[in-house]
Amino acid sequence: MTRDELKQQVAQAALKHVVEDKVVGVGSGSTVNLFIDALATIKGRIEGAVAASEASAERLKKHGIRVFDLNSVSELPVYVDGADEITEHLHMIKGGGGALTREKIIAAVATKFVCICDASKLVPVLGKYPLPIEVIPMARGYVGREMLKRKSQPVLREGFKTDNGNLILDCHGLTILDPSALEAELNSIAGVVTNGLFARRGADVLLLGAPGGFQTLKRKG
Ligand code: A5P
Repeated sequence: MTRDELKQQVAQAALKHVVEDKVVGVGSGSTVNLFIDALATIKGRIEGAVAASEASAERLKKHGIRVFDLNSVSELPVYVDGADEITEHLHMIKGGGGALTREKIIAAVATKFVCICDASKLVPVLGKYPLPIEVIPMARGYVGREMLKRKSQPVLREGFKTDNGNLILDCHGLTILDPSALEAELNSIAGVVTNGLFARRGADVLLLGAPGGFQTLKRKG
C-alpha cells in the first residue's frame, strides 16, 4: 500500500467517530484533506464543521459543508486531525502546516480528539521532527535565543505567515522526554503564541494506517 492509501484508510475510518447532527472539528494537512473528502459523503448527517485553517475551511465549503465560527459553537463532540509525530501515549508534534494555534484551540474545545496518520508518524520519542513554534514577529529573535539556550537550533520558516499573521520557528535538535513539561515551559516564553507540542491535551484515539489494516490506539488512563 502507498502512503496515500494508508492515509485514505484512516481518513475513511474516522467517519465512524463523527457524531450525527453535530458540528465536527476538522484539522489540517494532507490526511485531513482526505477526511474532508470522506466527510462530504455523509454531509447530510452532520450539522457542519469548524476548521483549523483557511485551507480546510475552503475545502469544506467546496464540498457544500457548512463552516461555523468556533465562537458560535458551544459543543464539539469530536475533532479529527493529523500529526507530524505521535507516541504511543498519544502525545504529538503538530504544526508542519503552520496551523498549530488554531488546531490547539479546537482540540481544547473538543470532547474527543481523533488523530489520523500513517504508521511512519509513530515514534518512541518526540523531537526528530523539528518542533514548530508560532511567534509574534517582534519576538522572533528573542524566542530564537531562548531556544538556543535549550540546545535547539531554531530555523525561521522562510516566506511563511500563519493564518494569524505570525511567524514559525522550526526548532531542531530536541529530544523530548517530558512533552507536557516542555509544552508548558515553551508557552511561557514571552512572544510565543503556542508551540506544536500537543501533550497536555493529546489525542484520545489514534487511527494508524498500516499495510495490514489500520490499528486503533486509545489513550491510557
Ligand atoms: C498542520 O499544522 C499539522 O499539525 C498537521 O496535522 C500535520 O502536518 C499532518 O499533516 P499531514 O497529514 O499532511 O502529514
